[in-house]
Amino acid sequence: MIILAIETSCDETSIAILENKKVISSITVSQILEQQKYGGVMPSLAAKLHIKNIQQVLTRALNEAKKSPLEVDYIAYTEKPGLIICLQIGKIMAETLSLYLNKPLFPCNHLEGHVYASLLDKKEEWTFPALALIISGGHTQIYQVNNHSDFVLLGETLDDAVGECLDKSAVLLGYTYPGGPIIEKLALDGQNIYRLPFPKNDNSLDFSFSGLKSEVRRLVSTKRENINVNDLACSLQYILAEVLAKKLKNAWLSNQARTIIIGGGVIANQFLRNYLVEKIKKWDKKTKIFFPAIKYSTDNAAMIGILAYYKIFHNLSKKI
Ligand code: KG4
Ligand code: ZN
Repeated sequence: MIILAIETSCDETSIAILENKKVISSITVSQILEQQKYGGVMPSLAAKLHIKNIQQVLTRALNEAKKSPLEVDYIAYTEKPGLIICLQIGKIMAETLSLYLNKPLFPCNHLEGHVYASLLDKKEEWTFPALALIISGGHTQIYQVNNHSDFVLLGETLDDAVGECLDKSAVLLGYTYPGGPIIEKLALDGQNIYRLPFPKNDNSLDFSFSGLKSEVRRLVSTKRENINVNDLACSLQYILAEVLAKKLKNAWLSNQARTIIIGGGVIANQFLRNYLVEKIKKWDKKTKIFFPAIKYSTDNAAMIGILAYYKIFHNLSKKI
């Protein structure tokens, strides 16, 4: 089965073509350069750039896959969550293709897509019950996954998302959006010496990250010239890793999940990946750990394609 998937929920215009679970083309045009001067994503500019780019992204995706539109069997697109004026552009493109080609249309949830990205190009399957941790620019959530159509929300952030904390902290340190990759790079030459507060250090499965960002702001405003940005980046990354590991462990202790899935843009961070793998292996060597490949961690349409594949194959209803 050939699936054409479209993702336009934020600042990436992305179209992928999958043959079953295998990605045969994936084209993503990022707006990072255009958005950087605003320190974040400006929705009206994002929508304007999606309109400008989507046609060429579609053509490139079809060319790279060596497919004609007539060979596509299913059309998938990100329905929500995201910036509404950006989502509409992908939806209109998907609906037009579906109508014109007379092929079924699959509206998909972006967050589920981040979780299913871990199954792209893989033979191995999740073993249930599983836990899914989503860490992106807009969301931080933990789900218990009982089967492909049963996701139960266990906990989420009460304020900022992890990615948002990284993005805002980077801006406070004088860097541009997106902050996550910049903090990761700075941290490579730093040490974990700043004692940052451990937010929401309890047995609940909820998170809070706005206090960490405020602590970065306080340090920057009170000790400006004496701040070592590498050390601060390293310390921030470290405390975020500790918080995520602790909450994941709380969840794992309550359901003894046999698979742990971690998705969302922040898991592009290599330090975080290594840290979490090491921790999970200490709790239980047999727990399977699923991450997306780095290239499928941040927003992309291939994750929407694989989600659609499972929806089609397992006749799934909406979960999140
Ligand atoms: O999933 P995503 O691409 O978009 C949303 O759905 O929000 O996640 C974007 C977030 C941003 O906050 C960005 O700073 C973060 O992922 N990010 C990273 C890295 N690459 C992207 N955070 C830490 N380390 C990275 N290498
Ligand atoms: Zn995302």
